[in-house]
Amino acid sequence: MQSRKIRFHNNKKKKKWPIIVTCLIGGILIIVPTIWIGLHDWNLDESLIALNPETPHEQPTQTTTEPDTPDSENPDPVPTEEPEEVVPPQEKPDESKEQHTPPAEEPPNNSYIPNQALPESPTIINGFIIANKKYPLPSTYNKGEDQTAREAFDKMAAAAKIDGFELFAFSTFRSYERQVTLYNQYVEKDGQEAADRYSARPGYSEHQTGLAFDIGEINFEQHWASSSFGETPAGKWVAQNAHLYGFIMRYPLGKEEITGYMHEAWHFRYVGVVTATDIYTNKQTLEEYLEL
Ligand code: DAL
Ligand code: ZN
Repeated sequence: MQSRKIRFHNNKKKKKWPIIVTCLIGGILIIVPTIWIGLHDWNLDESLIALNPETPHEQPTQTTTEPDTPDSENPDPVPTEEPEEVVPPQEKPDESKEQHTPPAEEPPNNSYIPNQALPESPTIINGFIIANKKYPLPSTYNKGEDQTAREAFDKMAAAAKIDGFELFAFSTFRSYERQVTLYNQYVEKDGQEAADRYSARPGYSEHQTGLAFDIGEINFEQHWASSSFGETPAGKWVAQNAHLYGFIMRYPLGKEEITGYMHEAWHFRYVGVVTATDIYTNKQTLEEYLEL
């Protein structure tokens, strides 16, 4: 009997343990996740992500939407990358200052660069060959009169004739050697300082490009190469119409500091109709147009 009782008692004890263990494990499996999810605002996604800190794939999608909002709306100084981004723009203005501030010793357009040697090749800016006191030509530049400019002049002369003016180009292409002779004559006559205001030194004359046309009226030679040409009906016609044929008045009144030369009512330069019209409309010089 005793042994039966003992056996029975032992059997009861053996059956309780699995139940207790099962309850404990079950409790842990239910209670712990519940507490974990509760700690993460009952958000199942966040709770799962928080379980594994090495998988932040979802987190950037939350933060990338925030930086999209303009900084001005976000008073918090967030990213540490910002200072690095700010540095380059600070450097840029310094560079541009260096580029745009002309050297203090650079002479203005209406004076020559002392001891400047003539170049090996002409200066061409935006497709335009330049001849002024800053940009001389090689002494060997000798292409003669430009054919396109001549054709444009002939067209203009034909149009002027219909309006009653007989135009004539009394000086177009001039070689380096011809300019030596002319300039020296003017220096002898008026002195170098005065001559430099109306005559280019050899190598610096636009006439050497073949694109400059000195224009006058036939039978009115007294106005050739004279400011009085600008007062004549023919001179006024050319001033108002030359751009339609691609010519600009190269040395306008009041622009000596920019062009380097006194006003010349007769000296026109071929640049093409579009550019000439632009320059004429904006009352500019070639130097201003090309920002020389
Ligand atoms: N008269 C102009 C400036 C020249 O000599 O080219
Ligand atoms: Zn001229």
